[in-house]
Amino acid sequence: MPKIIAFSTLKGGAGKSTLLMLTAAAVKNRTSHRLLVIDSDPQLSVKQIHQQENHPQAYDVFAFNWLQQNPQDYFAKVLTLAERKYDLVFMDLPPGRITDDPIMYSLLAADTVIVPIVASQLDVNATTNFLTLLPELMADRQHKPPLEVFGVINKQDQTVEYKHLTKLAGQASLQLFYTPLSNRVRYKRGVSTWRDLVDPTDPTDEFNRYFDEFRAKCFI
Ligand SMILES: Nc1ncnc2c1ncn2[C@@H]1O[C@H](COP(=O)(O)OP(=O)(O)O)[C@@H](O)[C@H]1O
Ligand SMILES: [Mg+2]
Repeated sequence: MPKIIAFSTLKGGAGKSTLLMLTAAAVKNRTSHRLLVIDSDPQLSVKQIHQQENHPQAYDVFAFNWLQQNPQDYFAKVLTLAERKYDLVFMDLPPGRITDDPIMYSLLAADTVIVPIVASQLDVNATTNFLTLLPELMADRQHKPPLEVFGVINKQDQTVEYKHLTKLAGQASLQLFYTPLSNRVRYKRGVSTWRDLVDPTDPTDEFNRYFDEFRAKCFI
């Protein structure tokens, strides 16, 4: 069974697709895991870049359309097929409520969810709403172990909106990464379906520290 990691938030623009792609490129370049990305967002952020780059070393990307008939059955089939070929599945989810089909069924299948969080009142409130509904959803997981929920502070800057983050403590067993990702142009420009963003040997680089934490926390 591949490990399934979803990137999800209630709000758009927090950095789901960015974080997924940066992490996926590092997995591709720094590990031997066979990785599939399922793009479930109708905006197809990952799929589009995958097609534009069309690079032989790119990780595989599968665009999943949740508006088709019986999407749950087809989704289950895709995951069964993925079992044979991949060790790791990342899911890029559309923004929305946890009760929306693409989010609910993806989180039911996932082992881990990464929630990018921007330190502003609106984003933290949205994250709190998202997390409040999680326990109810997890009750339906039956035989699966509890969903692991990790928050990653994204677009960190010099403003003092960090006081809002204290509201997140203890929410639905959310564990915050120690390493935030700063608001930087390189994260806007550096998304790729094959190229690693930074030199992996530089231990001072925040992305490398984030990725080490990602591997340790998600057992990758
Ligand atoms: N750490 C960051 N620094 C600078 N820009 C970022 C960062 N993370 C995301 N962005 C930018 O923010 C916007 C929204 O990010 P995106 O990944 O599309 O969010 P989502 O998938 O959650 O809607 C994009 O323009 C992206 O380039
Ligand atoms: Mg996105």
